[in-house]
Amino acid sequence: MKYLVTGAAGFIGFYLTKRLCEAGHEVVGIDNLNDYYDVNLKHARLKELEIYQNFRFQKLDLADREGVAKLFEAEQFQRVIHLAAQAGVRYSLDNPMAYADSNLVGHLTILEGCRHHNIEHLVYASSSSVYGLNSKTPFSTSDSVDHPISLYAATKKSNELMSHTYSHLYGIPTTGLRFFTVYGPWGRPDMALFKFAKLITEGKPIDVYNNGNLSRDFTYIDDIVEGIIRIQDVIPQKDENWTVESGSPAQSSAPYKVYNIGNGNPVKLESFIDSLESALNIKAQKNYMPMQPGDVYKTYADVDNLFEITGFKPNTSIEAGVTKFVDWYQAFYKA
Ligand SMILES: NC(=O)c1ccc[n+]([C@@H]2O[C@H](COP(=O)([O-])OP(=O)(O)OC[C@H]3O[C@@H](n4cnc5c(N)ncnc54)[C@H](O)[C@@H]3O)[C@@H](O)[C@H]2O)c1
Repeated sequence: MKYLVTGAAGFIGFYLTKRLCEAGHEVVGIDNLNDYYDVNLKHARLKELEIYQNFRFQKLDLADREGVAKLFEAEQFQRVIHLAAQAGVRYSLDNPMAYADSNLVGHLTILEGCRHHNIEHLVYASSSSVYGLNSKTPFSTSDSVDHPISLYAATKKSNELMSHTYSHLYGIPTTGLRFFTVYGPWGRPDMALFKFAKLITEGKPIDVYNNGNLSRDFTYIDDIVEGIIRIQDVIPQKDENWTVESGSPAQSSAPYKVYNIGNGNPVKLESFIDSLESALNIKAQKNYMPMQPGDVYKTYADVDNLFEITGFKPNTSIEAGVTKFVDWYQAFYKA
């Protein structure tokens, strides 16, 4: 099959591209290689992908309407896995326009490409951050998600709304995946695990927000990729019996679906740090800090729908995952 993977130089896009190439699919990856975090890491990921004859990379910005339209016209993809975005909750407080360009305009250029080229399935990244002010846990895709607390989250919720509209108007099958705090080797330098590993290794203190009183449903990268690989084969169909009043917001009369992919096992920030300390074999110096604006207290995924439809749910323990990350981190950075 022929795939477009957006954000192929990014953390999740890199792993997904690898999996698709290993399965023998033809993959065209795009990425604008922006410097939101260390560009060398993005280049290093792309270098790892160079070994696949069935992979081609094009540097392209999602917001480049003509460029994206030309790519769809030239390549005639069957499926699109759209992972490129401006990620990060905290960065969205200071750089809101980056989210408008990459996540709103960017999502629309991809939807337009799908609209004009008869794409069999568009799978795109949403986020657990859409649950915003929801306090009922675990977070279920049947809950309403109308109260985001960061612009990042609002753009991800918007992606779901925009996708629904295109599924309804043009019959494009779309599936949104709400990922829960993804971590692992080749992970993102702006995320806690990476930042903490670097600071602890350098003997510097780490900032522990809300005095450590936070929980995250950390999800190991291999579990995320397994979830994407299985879901992209489940192509949403129209459901004439669905109504807003009787159905779940994660479905529709249109060929539209939304799933959570999370570990289903929230971990307290303090125990997460314990796992990292034991993998590094160094004690962390901690700066206890207040809550940060835009952050949520707890994330916890209900993955029953994912399991029901794919027979899979994430199952990597935090200890195993953190150890794999540390092994990679120490080898890659010779730390
Ligand atoms: N990692 C997580 O914990 C997590 C959690 C929830 C949702 N997500 C979502 O999953 C997706 C992948 O996340 P990731 O962790 O791999 O992030 P990442 O930042 O490592 O990857 C995203 C890639 O997209 C590229 N990109 C950004 N804007 C672009 C644009 N305008 N045009 C072209 N390329 C662009 C970046 O250069 C980057 O390489 C994102 O949509 C993110 O919002 C991630």
